[in-house]
Parts: sequence; structure tokens; C-alpha cells
Amino acid sequence: MNILAFESSCDETSAAVVTMEEGSRIIRSNIVASQIEIHRRFGGVVPEVAGRAHIECIARITSEALTASGLGGDINSALGNIDAVAVTNTPGLIGALLVGVNFAKSLAFANNKPLIPVNHIRGHVAASYLSNPELEPPFLALVASGGHTSIIDVSSYTDYNVIGYTRDDAAGEAFDKAARVLGIPYPGGAEMDRLAKTGDPNAIRLPSPAMKKNPDDTHAEYFEFSFSGLKTAVINYVNTAKMRGEEISREDVAASFTNAVCRAVTQHLSGALELTGRDKLVFAGGVAANSHLRRAISEMCAARGARFFAPSLPLCGDNAAMIGAQAYYEYLAGVRADTSLNARATGE
Ligand code: KG4
Ligand code: ZN
Repeated sequence: MNILAFESSCDETSAAVVTMEEGSRIIRSNIVASQIEIHRRFGGVVPEVAGRAHIECIARITSEALTASGLGGDINSALGNIDAVAVTNTPGLIGALLVGVNFAKSLAFANNKPLIPVNHIRGHVAASYLSNPELEPPFLALVASGGHTSIIDVSSYTDYNVIGYTRDDAAGEAFDKAARVLGIPYPGGAEMDRLAKTGDPNAIRLPSPAMKKNPDDTHAEYFEFSFSGLKTAVINYVNTAKMRGEEISREDVAASFTNAVCRAVTQHLSGALELTGRDKLVFAGGVAANSHLRRAISEMCAARGARFFAPSLPLCGDNAAMIGAQAYYEYLAGVRADTSLNARATGE
């Protein structure tokens, strides 16, 4: 089945063509237009600017994705070989989502193709199906990105049960904010990863972002994180050192911050594996590109006898191929949208 997929939930506009069959998952094209340069000078994503930038490039990248798909000699013949159109409709920035939803809906309607709405978080998980052909549910998943941090028990391709989440900042957001106090431009996650390689992970004492379970909590199965305390501790450390005129080692700050995140994440994932009895773990989302977290989580899995999976690095960040991959399983489960499909900023 050939699926033309769209992703526009945040600051990447992406169009992709994937061919999904039983036992075969192929990316034919996956075009990603990043807006990072546009948002960098504001220190973060500006929602209205993101929506406008999506509008400017979505038609062009759709042409590129169809042309590169190899499904036809020109755009129209490639489009003729598309069996369904998929689009991220939740969660994300509403103005950004609306661009992709409206474009995909119009294209599907005008060409008489089925339209499949896809949840962005499910899409991140599905990126792992593309990189790991043998991967099948059930498994435990951690999705960590600039906007989300969730531990999910994935019992089938379309049955998701969230058993862990963040009370405040997302993991990627915490990386970006810690990077910012070190003078690293937005988004600083990848640079923090690089700096941490040569720093001392025990140089600075920082609070754990893993929240302890409250025994009275009726949701005792939840594994909660709070990254804002960790972020504040880094900001205080850097500001105090500056006030005292002390030299700060950016490498030590990055390594200590990363160490605190690795310990908290592995602690909660280990507990979640124990609780669910799953023997496979998927790590997905933009933060899954972090080399230290990949290693720490895969070592924890090995120690517990669980198999570790993650998307290849280019599929960790936002892209439309992952949306196309999840769309296939939603389609098999009977999910279709009609012309009233809308975007939602939050929700399942
Ligand atoms: O999934 P994604 O592309 O977009 C969202 O859905 O948010 O994730 C982007 C986030 C940013 O916060 C970015 O700094 C972070 O992923 N990120 C990293 C790394 N590469 C990207 N964080 C830590 N280490 C990395 N290597
Ligand atoms: Zn994302």
C-alpha cells in the first residue's frame, strides 16, 4: 500500500511516500523542510511564524516527495499510484497542524483517496518500525521530544496506554533550556550531547527528574517526571558561578545534566518493564538521538534481558515517513477521516 503522508505539528514541514505491506516497510521519499533557522533568533518556536512557514513550503515539498518516490514519471502519475493520504492531526501547535490537515484533506478529497489521521506520538513510535523490520508490538515505549515525554505500554499497533509522563517540561525542552543558559543557540539538545562526551558526569549535584511514587496515589502505575526542577538547578548553578566570577565548564554542566536525565529515565523505564512484563523497549522522539541516553537505556535493557529498539538518527526527529508508517496500521484497524477532520492541539 502506497501512502502519501504529511507532518506539520511543530517546526518541520514534511511530506513522505512509504510503501507498507505485511512483512515489508519501505520509505520511498521523506522530505523534511526545517524551520530551525527561522525560529533560532527567537530562542524557540513562534507558533504563528511556524504556521506561515508551513504554508509557504508544503506544496513544494509534496511535489518533491512525489517526484522522488519513483511511483511515476511525473507528479500526477505518482499521485495516481498513491492508495491513501495520511496526516498528523494531534497533538501539536494548532496553527501548524491546521496547515497539514487542510492540505492533506484537500488533496485526498480532490483525488478521491482515503484520508487517515495520525497521532504524532504514535508516529514517533512507528519510526522504529521503519528502522527495525522485525519489530512488532507488544512493547514498552519511551517517546521523548521537544514537546512530549511519555512512557507508553503499546499492546498492539493501535492500542496505547500511557503509564508515565512529565508534570511540566518535556525532556527535549529541558535539554534546550539548559543549553540556553550555557549560551548554546536553540535547539541545543544535540550540542549538549556533544559537550557531555568530554565532561565529568559527577561534577555537579543535580536533583533527579524522576518523581517518587506517592503510596496514596490511586494512579500508582504512573511513572512521573519533573524536568523543571532540574532545569532550574542548572540555571541557578550557572548564575551563581557567574556572580562569583567562577569559570564554568560547559562540558561538566552538560555531562552532569545528561547523567541526571539518564539515571531518572532508566530508573522509571526499569520500573515500567517490571510492571508491564514487556521484553522489548522502543526509544523514540527527537531526544532518542541522544547518544548517552541510547547507551544508558540499551544497557539497562540488556541487564534486564529486554531487547532495545530505536529509530535510525534521521527518523528520530519529526518527519512524515513515521506518520505514513503508523497510518498503515491505523488503516488496517479501520481508521478513516471524512472531510470534517479537524486538528487538535492536545489529545489522543
Ligand atoms: O521530535 P522532535 O524533532 O520535535 C518535537 O516533536 O518536539 O524533537 C526535538 C527535540 C528538541 O528539544 C531537541 O533539542 C531534541 O529533540 N534533541 C536532542 C538531541 N537531538 C535532538 N536532545 C538531546 N540530545 C540530542 N542528541
Ligand atoms: Zn515530534
